[in-house]
Amino acid sequence: MLDATALHRLRTARRVVALTGAGISAESGVPTFRDAQTGLWAKYRAEELATPEAFLENPRLVWNWYVWRRQLTAQAQPNPGHLALVQFQERFDSFTLITQNVDGLHARAGSRDVIELHGSIATTLCFDERTPVTDFVDDGQTSPRCPRCGALLRPGVVWFGESLPPAALQRAEQAAASCDVMLSIGTSSLVQPAAGLPLVAKRRGALLIEVNPSPTPLTPHADRVLSGPAGQVLPQLLRQLGGTDLG
Ligand code: OAD
Repeated sequence: MLDATALHRLRTARRVVALTGAGISAESGVPTFRDAQTGLWAKYRAEELATPEAFLENPRLVWNWYVWRRQLTAQAQPNPGHLALVQFQERFDSFTLITQNVDGLHARAGSRDVIELHGSIATTLCFDERTPVTDFVDDGQTSPRCPRCGALLRPGVVWFGESLPPAALQRAEQAAASCDVMLSIGTSSLVQPAAGLPLVAKRRGALLIEVNPSPTPLTPHADRVLSGPAGQVLPQLLRQLGGTDLG
């Protein structure tokens, strides 16, 4: 529960920003990145698969990992945490949702204009030209090829060592620098530049609220910590704000 002082800051905020990470989708059954991998993928670390080097070394392995994650996310349903953030958008004059997630669950819940810092798992790109490709054949042998130029195809996500989409990053930085309240939800706050956004907001005078069941490197900087799963904490926070009761 948020104390009265912080609740007042949130109630009277004009600009609110939320940054989400894999933790918000955990209750939808999408494993977080730093959870131990299970089943087929137990012998790999996510960080070893999500790089351009890993892909070029073994495109089929990395492609298949994303096929598996894409199926998982397609079957997953938005949870009460995602739904609460849709209500937040209705509640504030300006509410910006920035996500590191590639699963599309915020948009499927009904959030509008989500800033996807790490791309989207639903899209496929030509490795060489970075252009979206929709029509391709997967013969199960090598990773599928671009029908235009024959280059390898890759998922439309940002890998370790790659730059973020500049327009998305710029919008995120602007929103963080000008908000009154910043929520950091379900992220380990380990991966830059996303992890720096809450600190930008805090330096500019915003109230920084972290929602996470476990401490992170951001925790010592947070003004308030709501310790618990986002699917419980966010609906509770919404009720405190006087928004819709999501039960
Ligand atoms: P991580 O897997 O690093 O962290 C997930 C965080 O969610 C942890 O801090 C958990 O404590 C927390 N968590 C777990 N269950 C939760 C719940 N029910 N409610 C709230 N929080 C919960 O995921 P990210 O921080 O998103 O990037 O990882 C950042 C980036 O690293 C990802 O976008 C991805 C990854 O490698 C790229 O692929 C470029």
